[in-house]
Amino acid sequence: MSDNSENKGFIRRFLDAPADSVGKTVFVAVALCLVASMIVSATAVALRPTQEINKQKDKQVNILQVAGLYDPAVDVTDAFGKFEPQVLEIETGTFTDKFDAATFDDRASADNPETSIELDEDPAGIGRQSKYVTVYLLRDDAGELDKVILPIHGYGLWSTLYGFIALEENGNDIFGLQFYSHAETPGLGAEVDNPRWKSLWSGKKLSDDNGDLQITVAKTATAAGADFHVDALAGATLTSVGVDNLVRFWMGEEGYALFLENLKSGDL
Ligand SMILES: Cc1cc2nc3c(=O)[nH]c(=O)nc-3n(C[C@H](O)[C@H](O)[C@H](O)COP(=O)(O)O)c2cc1C
Repeated sequence: MSDNSENKGFIRRFLDAPADSVGKTVFVAVALCLVASMIVSATAVALRPTQEINKQKDKQVNILQVAGLYDPAVDVTDAFGKFEPQVLEIETGTFTDKFDAATFDDRASADNPETSIELDEDPAGIGRQSKYVTVYLLRDDAGELDKVILPIHGYGLWSTLYGFIALEENGNDIFGLQFYSHAETPGLGAEVDNPRWKSLWSGKKLSDDNGDLQITVAKTATAAGADFHVDALAGATLTSVGVDNLVRFWMGEEGYALFLENLKSGDL
């Protein structure tokens, strides 16, 4: 008998088999899995652009919130238009036009060996640091600098926390701080999102009159005083230590210190 007639015999036997036969059950299960996986894959691909847009919008909402400008009644894209994004070269503390600030991807840059460095001392637990980051300037109606919004990130207890710190035009007074992404425990480390805790940052200062970085997140204030102290989260000391480390890293010599110097001396 030829292969073809053997195949016909197999197909006929399969079709003639009862609906609850092993062969038909397996066939239906496999077919269902294939169709379902095709639908899931197609949906994931189709939704990717929408997810990217939503991610971008969420970041913009966070920048508006940390600058105290978020109004749910106002279109996010319109409100965000008030900000001037700039790509900052961390090493020089100056802006660069090597990249388009509107599309520069800080996280991709941190993963790229050509645009990032591996940290030896890594108190923020970030592994690699991008040499370039996107910062956002906010100007008043006269065009004078009003606030500067700086991205910050670092490891807490369970996750890397990503957020922004908003500074007044003097580059030393804190207007606000907030994280837009983390996986700390709800009710414990995730209390970094609690409006009451976030409000503690407003009015605090980064450095003292000698220019020494003094801002600290701790259970008790340091000798520098209350102006430089944010209370640690109760029951979440480890996340608080992470936030202390990451804020001090980004505001220090390896982070924005030179940029903030340039800002204070009007060199930008
Ligand atoms: C399931 C579980 C989740 C926890 N999540 C966090 C957390 O997200 N952040 C944190 O700092 N501590 C967390 N802790 C508590 C820490 O283990 C530690 O006890 C706490 O940071 C000490 O804070 P305290 O000195 O203020 O009590 C968690 C503990 C458990 C059992």
